[in-house]
Amino acid sequence: MNDRAQHVIAECRHLATMTEEPGRITRRFLSRPVHDVHAHLRRRMVALGMDVVVDAVGNLRGLWVPPNAGPQRLVLGSHIDTVPDAGAFDGVLGVVMALEWVRIAQQDLLPIAIEVIAFSEEEGVRFGVPFLGSRAVAGRFDPALLTLNDAQGIFVEQSIRAFGLDPNLIAEAQIHPDALGFVEIHIEQGPILESERRGLGVVNRIVGQSRLSIEFVGQANHAGTTPMNMRRDALAAAAEWIAAVEKYATQNEGLAATVGRIIVEPNAGNVIPGKARLSLDVRHALDRVREEAVDQLVSKANSIAARRGLALAFTRQLNEPAVPMDERLTAYLVDAAEVAGFPARTMPSGAGHDAMVMATRLPAAMLFLRSPGGISHHPAESVLEEDVEAALHVGRQFLARLAAQSQF
Ligand code: GLV
Ligand code: MN
Ligand code: MN
Repeated sequence: MNDRAQHVIAECRHLATMTEEPGRITRRFLSRPVHDVHAHLRRRMVALGMDVVVDAVGNLRGLWVPPNAGPQRLVLGSHIDTVPDAGAFDGVLGVVMALEWVRIAQQDLLPIAIEVIAFSEEEGVRFGVPFLGSRAVAGRFDPALLTLNDAQGIFVEQSIRAFGLDPNLIAEAQIHPDALGFVEIHIEQGPILESERRGLGVVNRIVGQSRLSIEFVGQANHAGTTPMNMRRDALAAAAEWIAAVEKYATQNEGLAATVGRIIVEPNAGNVIPGKARLSLDVRHALDRVREEAVDQLVSKANSIAARRGLALAFTRQLNEPAVPMDERLTAYLVDAAEVAGFPARTMPSGAGHDAMVMATRLPAAMLFLRSPGGISHHPAESVLEEDVEAALHVGRQFLARLAAQSQF
């Protein structure tokens, strides 16, 4: 039994109690429980002697500067928002582990300054567009994002003000020029490590990701009096299209395409649906395959709508290219895992991560921990104590290796 590993798991489970929905873990961008998460993590950071700030997009950031440090800093972190009905570890584990790595750096008297960032938004659940937190840190926050609105009609800008922050200061959230690299610790969220009986993986590449919103617009009408051949049923069109999306992705190697959300209007049992708004999420390691898939699926939606006499509208919300991780930092992680006695496999990530945005600005790397049952984005998501312990040992080796480099 390792005390620190148990503490990490207990911390994640405790943070999971800070939720918008009693009985389920749901914590969207700058929702009320984020104040509690900040308060808790702030206490932990202050106890470690870190200086703590919340930037204008709601990222909680703690900086540890040892007395003997040079100007450069290592950045560690992950996100604290969740999907609806989430597990306790996606994102949060990377923040809690980052604080443990700071503790290790302190114990070992390493001359490395470390900034830990708890990113406010990665999932894209509240506003449809992910990475609001890391975009600001990477200097890629387009002010147009402030005008996105959520299901209640609240704009990003209003949500930031309501949290007590000033959206005019987002440009100041950019990472310090002396930041030399970013490392994110995360659960794998898939079955591969478990199937190989391995606790750890090192990510070599994060697949590209597109997200779209698609709306079929037909005519709401009486379910009893409108003959079947005179209907313009938006939901029936959507259903036909969803089946086509699944078929297309199944026939194209390595492609993942998901319709995860649908909003039907007026959503009544005795009314023909007049509108159906759907999300589309498309991923592939090769950008051209992903882009071709998006074009094909939009064109399929157009032809279904045209045949049924419906209108179609779509918005491209995200087009994030596949991103390689930094070779040098990745090699350090692989070596550190080897030396620590937990040889890690290198692997691509099918999930999106803050590291893919940070990588556009800084060398970035990721350490994965096995996901028992391959389960994630689900309350049953978990992590093994032995893997947390292994990741702590890897941290000790990795940080020592970095500290030995002249630029630190
Ligand atoms: C984030 O969890 C994503 O990959 O959707
Ligand atoms: Mn997630
Ligand atoms: Mn995540």
